[in-house]
Amino acid sequence: MHVREAVLEILEQNKGTEYPGAELARMLGVSRNAVWKAVQELKKKGYPIEAVGKKGYCLSGESDILSPQSIGFWLSDFKTPLQFEVYEEVPSTNTILKQKAEAGAPEGLVCVANRQTMGKGRLGRSFYSPPDTGIYMSILLRPTLLAQDALLITTAAAVAVARVIETASGRPAQIKWVNDVYCDGRKVCGILTEASMNFESGGLAYAVLGIGINIAPPAGGFPEEISSIATALFGENAHVSGIRSRLTAEICRAFFELYTKLPDKTFMEEYRSRSFLIGCDVDVLSPGGSRPAHVLDIDADANLVVRFADGAVQSLSSGEVSVRRRST
Ligand code: BTN
Repeated sequence: MHVREAVLEILEQNKGTEYPGAELARMLGVSRNAVWKAVQELKKKGYPIEAVGKKGYCLSGESDILSPQSIGFWLSDFKTPLQFEVYEEVPSTNTILKQKAEAGAPEGLVCVANRQTMGKGRLGRSFYSPPDTGIYMSILLRPTLLAQDALLITTAAAVAVARVIETASGRPAQIKWVNDVYCDGRKVCGILTEASMNFESGGLAYAVLGIGINIAPPAGGFPEEISSIATALFGENAHVSGIRSRLTAEICRAFFELYTKLPDKTFMEEYRSRSFLIGCDVDVLSPGGSRPAHVLDIDADANLVVRFADGAVQSLSSGEVSVRRRST
């Protein structure tokens, strides 16, 4: 490992406390000058590292810079092998990871970005991804699933995200079929799974699970077109330093725990119980137009079971329609 990365790993593990430069040099088997140079490089990249007296370095407890080290710190006890790549800016972490998947990257590679310039949402929509205030992450999976079961990845991820953000914020998290997580009636998270099929086996060659979460309100607020729907998990003044690294790690942990048991579909009960739509009146939106309906249930295959005004009951697949809850 590069000295700089190794120094960062140790400082992340000791965030907020002084770490002697001599000890860093000894542990890494390099000179104190090499440690000093590594610290200068990290400072240039924006890391708030202070020299404490003449002897030590301290990475501020306030540091919120995402890095493989800051995320990996929270997963030291986790058995599933994960590898994190962190970017300052990308068009879309899903797009980057799909390219890596095509080139043969293994399951467990996770791409994380501080901002996205072309963040993608479901049904061709965009996902607003400003810097510093969100989590934009994509996880590469190579599941042994039939293509028709790919939706289980999205539903398991929604349950994992809901659990993690509820624990972190204390705010109840609901799931809006099929891929959004809501707090207090507004969207905090969107999930987009993009899969590539293996036509010979009928299974998936790979799937890229993309998760976007609004952690804090963006500078200047949300753009007008989403300001009535979107919210952030924490308020402007909340003390959330370092929270993005921690939540990224915890979401990976929670998701992979469900992923190992995916075909059991045991998490579907929780998915249903967290539903933001069951029992509500909605507009079903499809290319053909909008139809009012009442949501009866979500079935074991994550289809939305609705009753239309004429009494007809239908199971709707997420690939075909989206739904807007009616405010009554
Ligand atoms: C939606 O709201 O319809 C889904 C949004 C998914 C956003 C995430 S952010 C990380 C990953 N990269 C993307 O371009 N999209 C997903």
